[in-house]
Amino acid sequence: MLLKLLLLFVLVFCENVYSEICSNASKLKCDCRIFTNTKSHLPMQTADCSERGIENIPENIEDGLSILDLSINVIQNLDPTKQALSSNSLEELILSYNNITYIDVNFFQNLPNLQQLDLSNNFISAFNNSEVFQNLKSLNFLDLSYNNLNTLPDFIFNPLFKLIQLDLSYNYMGEFLTSSKSVLTDKLGLTSNLTQLSINGLNLMELPSGYFDKFVDLKKLSLCDNDLSVIPTVPYTLEYLDLSGNKLTFISARYLNYHSLKVLKLNEMDTLTDIHHYAFYNLFALEKLYINDCPNLKEFNELAFDVPSKDIDHHPKFLSLARNGLKSLNQSYKYFFKNMDHIDLTHNPWNCDCDILWLQDFADELSKPHELRCNYPSELKHKKILDIEPSDLLECFPAIYGKKSHRVLIVVLSLSCVVLCGLIFYLLRYPINGIANKHKIGPNSPYSLAHTTDHA
Ligand SMILES: *[C@@H]1O[C@H](CO)[C@@H](O)[C@H](O)[C@H]1NC(C)=O
Ligand SMILES: *[C@@H]1O[C@H](CO)[C@@H](O)[C@H](O)[C@H]1NC(C)=O
Ligand SMILES: *[C@@H]1O[C@H](CO)[C@@H](O)[C@H](O)[C@H]1NC(C)=O
Ligand SMILES: *[C@@H]1O[C@H](CO)[C@@H](O)[C@H](O)[C@H]1NC(C)=O
Ligand SMILES: *[C@@H]1O[C@H](CO)[C@@H](O)[C@H](O)[C@H]1NC(C)=O
Repeated sequence: MLLKLLLLFVLVFCENVYSEICSNASKLKCDCRIFTNTKSHLPMQTADCSERGIENIPENIEDGLSILDLSINVIQNLDPTKQALSSNSLEELILSYNNITYIDVNFFQNLPNLQQLDLSNNFISAFNNSEVFQNLKSLNFLDLSYNNLNTLPDFIFNPLFKLIQLDLSYNYMGEFLTSSKSVLTDKLGLTSNLTQLSINGLNLMELPSGYFDKFVDLKKLSLCDNDLSVIPTVPYTLEYLDLSGNKLTFISARYLNYHSLKVLKLNEMDTLTDIHHYAFYNLFALEKLYINDCPNLKEFNELAFDVPSKDIDHHPKFLSLARNGLKSLNQSYKYFFKNMDHIDLTHNPWNCDCDILWLQDFADELSKPHELRCNYPSELKHKKILDIEPSDLLECFPAIYGKKSHRVLIVVLSLSCVVLCGLIFYLLRYPINGIANKHKIGPNSPYSLAHTTDHA
């Protein structure tokens, strides 16, 4: 502890000595701070040089600096003959949102302790040398998302045997990455140490079978914004799977048999219309399920998890079903809702009939319960479900208003009374004789006997 304090003291008061970019004299005016690393409990220095219009990597990064953030600048080529970066202490380098198009093979040679490298949101269209990451033996995180990459050189990831997190999203590599089942491993050199992979937005239509076979430790997989029409086979070790923005039309238990999966995201799919019986039944560990923004999902199967009942606790604790096309939700879900931490059912076009009223009992459990509104019938459109009164849905409250059939009977009987009264009144006013006299057979009657005999 004393040692740590001493170290902190030394770092604070000798700032200029070990990192010139943090000195007051530096042209860059980076925002330098010291914080305590949560893992090692050692003080670390970070230099935030983002958004400063920097064109070249700053020189004189001396030992001591752990994190260098150069995001949102206009750095173009990473060429060590023009701008060298060398540090034994640097652990994290952020170069996102720059104008980087080309990285020289020697650029990352002198960063032996670099663990995290973020090159996302640049204009890198190719790595023409597979040795560009040669000396990054400590790298565990690499982000190449949002670049212009079509392909990658063979074995480019070979030196990165400690890599556990890789993001290749939003490039043009879809075809390249699905050219064979072992592109990622045999061709590019990723190891089974990888635990997190993001391959979003690559127009992937299907993955070759066995694509993830070698990733025996993968925990988190993101496959968003692709064109997948069926859920691909993913590693059994997976704990997090995001398939949002694909072209799935249905969800079935057949494709979801992962006993470690804790979080499943199936958002933003216009194509999704069906959730089959027991679709999530085999996901024993499922804690969070997100199905949001699927406007054509009109029903959420009453047996999506299991038969809802008092004694069954087989369902996630977090369920988000916002902004779908749901009109109703089977009342039996009340057994599950009682044991959930988060339930979001907002912005669905609910059909307000007697079958919706059970939701009123869950005002405390539901997230933003006041945003649950009726879409049908038209006289209740936009009404909050929590505000529905017995008088809005008379037929649902027979105890107060009687049964509908009873009410009809009452109306019919009342009407009959009015008619009868009218008749009685009429009969009293115009007694039967008066009426009868009018039509008596007489001389002026067409049936008059006198009349007929005249002719004869
Ligand atoms: C840097 O400048 C600020 C004021 O601009 C001053 O308070 C601080 O002491 C200076 N730091 C060093 C290390 O000179
Ligand atoms: C960096 O890229 C942006 C976006 O393409 C462009 O507007 C800007 O002119 C570029 N700056 C330099 C210095 O190349
Ligand atoms: C890589 O590309 C750069 C610039 O496009 C070029 O100067 C260099 O010679 C290329 N290296 C290889 C090995 O092709
Ligand atoms: C996984 O990483 C460890 C070090 O963290 C390394 O010793 C091991 O060789 C790596 N595994 C593979 C298959 O490369
Ligand atoms: C709710 O689900 C149960 C079980 O499948 C079914 O018997 C019942 O009719 C459903 N209720 C409604 C209102 O659809």
